[in-house]
Amino acid sequence: MTLKNILSATALSAGLVSALAAPLAAEEKTDFKLAWSIYVGWMPWGYLEDSGIMNKWADKYGITVDIVQINDYVESINQYTAGAFDGVSATNMDTLSIPSGGGVDTTALIIGDYSNGNDAVILKGEGGLADLKGKPVNLVELSVSHYLLARGLETVGLEEADLDAVINTSDADMIAAYATSDVEAVVTWNPLVSEITGSNPDANVLFDSSMFPGEILDLMVVNTETLADNPAFGKAVAGAWYEVMGLMAAGDDGRYSFTTVKPVEYTVPSDGPVGDILRACGRHPWRPSHLHYIVKAPGYRTLVTEIFPEDDPYLDQDTVFGVRDDLVMRYHKKQASDFPHGMALSGKVTEPFLHVEFDVTLATETG
Ligand SMILES: [Fe+2]
Repeated sequence: MTLKNILSATALSAGLVSALAAPLAAEEKTDFKLAWSIYVGWMPWGYLEDSGIMNKWADKYGITVDIVQINDYVESINQYTAGAFDGVSATNMDTLSIPSGGGVDTTALIIGDYSNGNDAVILKGEGGLADLKGKPVNLVELSVSHYLLARGLETVGLEEADLDAVINTSDADMIAAYATSDVEAVVTWNPLVSEITGSNPDANVLFDSSMFPGEILDLMVVNTETLADNPAFGKAVAGAWYEVMGLMAAGDDGRYSFTTVKPVEYTVPSDGPVGDILRACGRHPWRPSHLHYIVKAPGYRTLVTEIFPEDDPYLDQDTVFGVRDDLVMRYHKKQASDFPHGMALSGKVTEPFLHVEFDVTLATETG
């Protein structure tokens, strides 16, 4: 029973006037809408919608969550602030300045990433930040781009007043604006940054967000009141997001790799009937440490399995009998200098690490 139901029941049985319960009554609802706009860190929102993963999680909680793409960042936040959406993808500073500043109490539900170089100040042609003095700069006014520009200018002792002008330009218009001759510098975000630098040899990145790590956070924010009254909404959205975050694609050659922490052995819950059965059988509740795998490929049967280290003390006594010989892996200790290239942690590992190779073979759908 929800808080609302308990309150209503109490009010009815005690014969209280309904006005007493009204301010406390939760705004429960079943249909929710999220807005997102084009930014590299937010592309998973489109995938959540298109893949059906959002619907799957919404169904689990008996609600619906529509994820809607809006082609203009500030417009998407304005629509959220006006109440047209229950949540929106936004940075921390834009959340503070638009909805929160406008009196809409807002909660960061998911921190998807921080903008590690995905926001940039770009000059046409040679020069440095100091050369922005006296020039016009096009950007989405009062957005994260404006913030980035201010952070950049202060590193060379300049401020906005030293520029010719800041010209408000929508993200939807930024590529076209850069192509016009009167635009001299822009501030924008990826994928627009790489579209501009990739197709304009004169595009010169003067400053980007990798120069102040962790400061620009890319979020999914939701209405605080809606979330408090509807925890299922938050659970469904977070569940769907982190399911997508757990997806990895193998390379064209079928190779896959990832870094993670070494798991540890753990117990299955031993209260309730499972505990009764274990005790009746004289069994302990321990499982050997393991990694879970779900492996899918077109034309093959989906494999759901776990793999176990060969030196785990519970390898031959898994309480749920999950271990098979061909699911056993071996950890090899390696020196930090042997850490492979091309991983997110490459160059950052300073201590010995463990390495595992594990090949997965899928059965064909017909086989
Ligand atoms: Fe597990």
